[in-house]
Amino acid sequence: MLPRKIIIDTDPGQDDAVAILLALASPDDLEVLGITAVAGNVPLELTARNARMVCELAGRTDIAVYAGCDRPLGRDLVTAEHVHGKTGLDGPDLPPPAMPLQKAHAVDFIIDTLRSEPEGTVTLCPLGPLTNIAMAFEKAPDIVPRVAEIVLMGGAYFEVGNITPAAEFNIYVDPQAARIVFKSGAPLVVMPLDVTHKALVTAPRNEAFRALGTPVGVAVAQMTDFFERFDKEKYGSVGAPLHDPCVTAYLIRPDLFTGRHVNVEIETQSDLTMGMTVADWWGVSGRAPNAMFMGDIDATGFFTLLTERLARL
Ligand code: BDR
Ligand code: CA
Repeated sequence: MLPRKIIIDTDPGQDDAVAILLALASPDDLEVLGITAVAGNVPLELTARNARMVCELAGRTDIAVYAGCDRPLGRDLVTAEHVHGKTGLDGPDLPPPAMPLQKAHAVDFIIDTLRSEPEGTVTLCPLGPLTNIAMAFEKAPDIVPRVAEIVLMGGAYFEVGNITPAAEFNIYVDPQAARIVFKSGAPLVVMPLDVTHKALVTAPRNEAFRALGTPVGVAVAQMTDFFERFDKEKYGSVGAPLHDPCVTAYLIRPDLFTGRHVNVEIETQSDLTMGMTVADWWGVSGRAPNAMFMGDIDATGFFTLLTERLARL
């Protein structure tokens, strides 16, 4: 089978970086048409820089990286340096990128790619706030039915919120954008905190990355070393949650995940619950399902896949 064509839309972020590395390590499964950066964990200038540093770490300077929206559609940007550090990619000591940023805007790249590739062949993989994707859908509604699938990290139901008591970070940063995407009609697969909080880098899993002995293996171990301190303190968990790699792992091994096809609506009005993903897990609303909302992961299988693939870089 031909590799699946994907666009990774991202705000790196250590866990975004690992998601990108997993995709780049899997060329038989995934063809990365481009990486689009969005403001999220840190401002756009840094996410566009970090995305290129990750490509260089993987030895893939051929990947086109585009900068996109520098702020959410209708509100001020909220960032997460308290989780990811000042650069967004604190942990390893990576050199500044030498590869250029593409001239085109990320939103135009997404539109042009969906128009030029055969209908139903391009999958969007958002790993940050949904601003770029929503902008593209608003600017060019004709591309929506051309999308094969959107597989995204965002939201939470049983885990509720990580940035507010009610909301997960990616959705909270740009709830208007999330609303547009969830209402778009494009097929959606959602990796919420309910799943990603089970993808924890325990000490032996971190050691397995380091034991690869490669620049990639060591950098991933250093990233998760840095990234875990926040969640350990907050949740008392055993290690860093690898949120975003659940997206790229799903594209390679969907059998590692289980969930339900349910209705998911985004709260955009209430101050108290702004950005909440109201998932109708129990089917009580009568609203039509619009998303495959994942609930569980085979974490052992996930880390086996990840470590084995990272070893290829
Ligand atoms: C999401 O927010 C970011 O901090 C992570 O990169 C992930 O995409 C988890 O809530
Ligand atoms: Ca992210």
